[in-house]
Amino acid sequence: MRVLIVGCGYAGLAVGLELVKQGHEVSGLRRSAIGQDELKDAGLQPLVADITKPEQLARLPVPFDWVVNMVSSSKGGSEEYREVYLQGTRNLIEWLTPTPLRKFVYTSSTSVYGQSDGSVVKESSPTTPESATSRLLVETEKLLVDAARTNKFPSAILRVAGIYGPGRGHLFQQYLKNEARIAGQGQRLINMIHRDDLSSAVIAALKDARPGEVYNAVDDEPVAQIHFFRWLSETLGKNMPPFASEAENATRKRGLTNKKVSNRRLRTELGCTLKYPTFRQGYTAEILRLDQAGLLEIELEPR
Ligand SMILES: NC(=O)c1ccc[n+]([C@@H]2O[C@H](COP(=O)([O-])OP(=O)(O)OC[C@H]3O[C@@H](n4cnc5c(N)ncnc54)[C@H](OP(=O)(O)O)[C@@H]3O)[C@@H](O)[C@H]2O)c1
Repeated sequence: MRVLIVGCGYAGLAVGLELVKQGHEVSGLRRSAIGQDELKDAGLQPLVADITKPEQLARLPVPFDWVVNMVSSSKGGSEEYREVYLQGTRNLIEWLTPTPLRKFVYTSSTSVYGQSDGSVVKESSPTTPESATSRLLVETEKLLVDAARTNKFPSAILRVAGIYGPGRGHLFQQYLKNEARIAGQGQRLINMIHRDDLSSAVIAALKDARPGEVYNAVDDEPVAQIHFFRWLSETLGKNMPPFASEAENATRKRGLTNKKVSNRRLRTELGCTLKYPTFRQGYTAEILRLDQAGLLEIELEPR
């Protein structure tokens, strides 16, 4: 297949590498030309365009059989989200609609679930998040579902949990730097997926996802923050992080969600098997990698 990975960053590059290994012809698109060598070394054809600018898309070499939209707004606010996710996706649909596209996969986020009661959420659960940025992701999904239903645009959606893997994982890195704090009583649930399992999920969706359908991309075990830190603490022989102050908790509280995201559909309908079914396998691999590279600097805090 001729494949285009739009937003070929941390997770996109892993998808590209795997597809190249499987014998596909893969192009990776970024907004800037920085990092082109990284794409070339991985066997991908580097492309540069800003998806918020239709005239730049028009210059790219269509057609593609499979397209994955993995752009990320790099944590911006509502304006960036509106531009990059909503308008960017609209531009991609318009650009690709006249082409013989077979599948389009968009990596949305589990942040579209606003549930804060610790309940299990599946793809049919309500998506009414409090945060303005997550509501823009819901709008982006709607655009793709409508395009699939009304124009037969072959799009499917993956709702992706927090991505971790080599060199990534926000709480883990904060913990290593002694900057982590346990929020509240530490009971808030974290939903995660290892980068390599996300890569498998994207490829499974390219092959087997049904247009207009949504699949959660998350591992088997949502974990309470305090249990995550306890496991790290025992594994690394390092103190638990301190609890956040009342003032810190008060500023963080608004819009925080708390839910168990189900991956049943990913496993049963896309047949995806996870290499790292829980954070324990995934972070064991990362800790080993860091240790073998001499990068695991544990600074034990005085108690
Ligand atoms: N990270 C998470 O925990 C998480 C959680 C849920 C969902 N997701 C979703 O998963 C996907 C992959 O995330 P990631 O962490 O791998 O992202 P990433 O490393 O930040 O990479 C994003 C890529 O998007 C490109 N990009 C940004 N704006 C663009 C634009 N206007 N036009 C063209 N390319 C643009 C960037 O190119 P430049 O580097 O050249 O700017 C970069 O290559 C994203 O869709 C993200 O929203 C991520």
